[in-house]
Amino acid sequence: MITINFIAPDDHPTRTSATIQCQTGQSLMQAAVAANIAGIEADCGGLLTCATCHVYVREPHAAQLPPPDGDERGMLEFTAAPCRPGSRLSCQIQLTDALDGLTVDLPPNQH
Ligand code: FES
Repeated sequence: MITINFIAPDDHPTRTSATIQCQTGQSLMQAAVAANIAGIEADCGGLLTCATCHVYVREPHAAQLPPPDGDERGMLEFTAAPCRPGSRLSCQIQLTDALDGLTVDLPPNQH
């Protein structure tokens, strides 16, 4: 089990910060959906066609992740909230023990 922190935007009406314990061997999106994290919509179920699983990964973990491949980079152009350093699609982040303590900021909107 590893710990993941989801941080809501300040003063957001529907997002709340949460810390979850989850298994490795799944994507960050799958862990977030299973935990009912508000703000991870994942409309396509991880098929890399929706960009509604956008998160901002904080350091030090952002630098430890494999860089986004071409398909993920392409979909990052369609996020509802602006991309910034650390922007990733959570369905493309595979959880490993090395990501214990991962902290991601939730964008204000996914649509
Ligand atoms: Fe659709 Fe990640 S769940 S792109």
